[in-house]
Amino acid sequence: MVKKFSRFKILALETSCDETAAAVVGTNSNKVEILSSQVSSQIALHQKYGGVVPELAARAHLEAVIPAVEESLRTAGLTPERLTGLAVVSGPGLITSLMVGVETAKALALAWQKPLLAVNHIYAHLAANFLKPIKFPALCLVVSGGHTELIFLKDFWSCRKIGRTVDDAAGEAFDKVAKLLDLGYPGGPVIARLAAVGDSERYCFPRPMLTADNFNFSFSGLKTAVLYQTKKLGRLTPGIKKDIAAGFQRAVVEVLTAKTLKAAEKFKVKTIALAGGVAANQELRKSLEAGAVEAGFEFFAPELKFCTDNAAMVGVAACYLEQKKQTLKNNWRKIAADPNWEL
Ligand code: KG4
Ligand code: ZN
Repeated sequence: MVKKFSRFKILALETSCDETAAAVVGTNSNKVEILSSQVSSQIALHQKYGGVVPELAARAHLEAVIPAVEESLRTAGLTPERLTGLAVVSGPGLITSLMVGVETAKALALAWQKPLLAVNHIYAHLAANFLKPIKFPALCLVVSGGHTELIFLKDFWSCRKIGRTVDDAAGEAFDKVAKLLDLGYPGGPVIARLAAVGDSERYCFPRPMLTADNFNFSFSGLKTAVLYQTKKLGRLTPGIKKDIAAGFQRAVVEVLTAKTLKAAEKFKVKTIALAGGVAANQELRKSLEAGAVEAGFEFFAPELKFCTDNAAMVGVAACYLEQKKQTLKNNWRKIAADPNWEL
């Protein structure tokens, strides 16, 4: 447990995919506080292509990033001089998107003469759970559009990956299935909406790697099973779509829940935490919470707005990293976007 924080105020940026986000996160003696959080979404821009178009994303980040910084400082009631430093997600993510946030943060760090800290995107997602008093050891399931990972946390800083997807990420599967069903982008929220009124028993999809003797996941076969089902059915009526969505979501939720619980038992953790964009899925939250509580674990999931990409989680991560003295240095020259940065 972190006993006492030094006082700092950090401006955080996150542009790893299709959200341009800026936030100010501050600490007082014993807690981390979000002073402002701005997220400018590009969903409308990418919707007609059915997915993120990297070059369009980068251009939109360039236009939105300085306004997001200005707005987050204004909302927090701060001028740049009063910042302790800056933090930015430098990977993993889309290189063209990451570069905008990273190079903007470097330019601001140079102009304002402030230290800059590079934060790992996955670590930032799981740090969204540090806003409440989490008990260690903990196991965090990070499920997003780019990642599906089980991370064992000995404390705030020591992370060990114990499982991951061997192909598609869970969020990617939601997005691809939504595309198959012609439901638009991003797929997660629309599948969840339809699934809530669908019959999850009408079409039964596989539970990939459910019984495999490891903590890895696989979602590409599940997506293919949905594809075959849609081909077999031919015309997809709204009724069929909601039942497919419900059956697909049930399969994903069951696998994620069962394997996370199994890992939590094996690694004897106190807490199970959920993070990443797919953590916004109500059925997953409910299923994992119910399983965790029944098995005697504490359960944590961030507020919905801190599940999908945002900069507040980056600021929280930066506060914890800084507390460990790993971090804020006048080293902007050494920081570069790294799309494959492994936690
Ligand atoms: O964490 P995130 O915002 O970006 C990445 O780091 O990838 O996650 C985005 C992913 C998308 O695949 C989106 O479809 C999914 O999270 N997602 C959801 C829900 N809301 C967003 N998936 C399932 N149910 C949701 N309610
Ligand atoms: Zn993310």
